[in-house]
Amino acid sequence: MSALSNDQIEDLISQSLEARNNSYSPYSKFRVGAALRTVDGKIFQGCNVENASYGGAICAERTAFVKAVSEGYRRFVAIAVSCDMNQFISPCGICRQFMNEFGKNLEIFFVNDDRTYKRAILADLLPYAFGPEDLPGN
Ligand code: THU
Repeated sequence: MSALSNDQIEDLISQSLEARNNSYSPYSKFRVGAALRTVDGKIFQGCNVENASYGGAICAERTAFVKAVSEGYRRFVAIAVSCDMNQFISPCGICRQFMNEFGKNLEIFFVNDDRTYKRAILADLLPYAFGPEDLPGN
């Protein structure tokens, strides 16, 4: 059961689908959009941004997180992720680790083109995670 209302979920889905439009993905041609909701209801959108040096690409999820954190937001409830294929896109391992830094209870919505979605909790996607609490002094 989600912490979000149906309207809030639908809004997050819309914003993740919209975020795909700014994807810079000339190499993979795989456009990804994300929408990240903070605890106080602000939404940050993100898209994947690729690079001629392929390893320099950043995923849509991390773009959204970096935008939010750099604006002073660190507490999040949910992220929706969508691509432009008929599939439920699942965050890559690097993004899972990156998102875990800010809370393992994050809700993740894998959004299909037709707005149907699957839902998961980050902790279930990254079991036995290494996080901030594993470092001395945290
Ligand atoms: N990508 C994302 O933006 N998010 C994901 O969850 C999976 C992959 C991007 C990275 C790259 O630009 C393209 O999709 C193909 O891997």
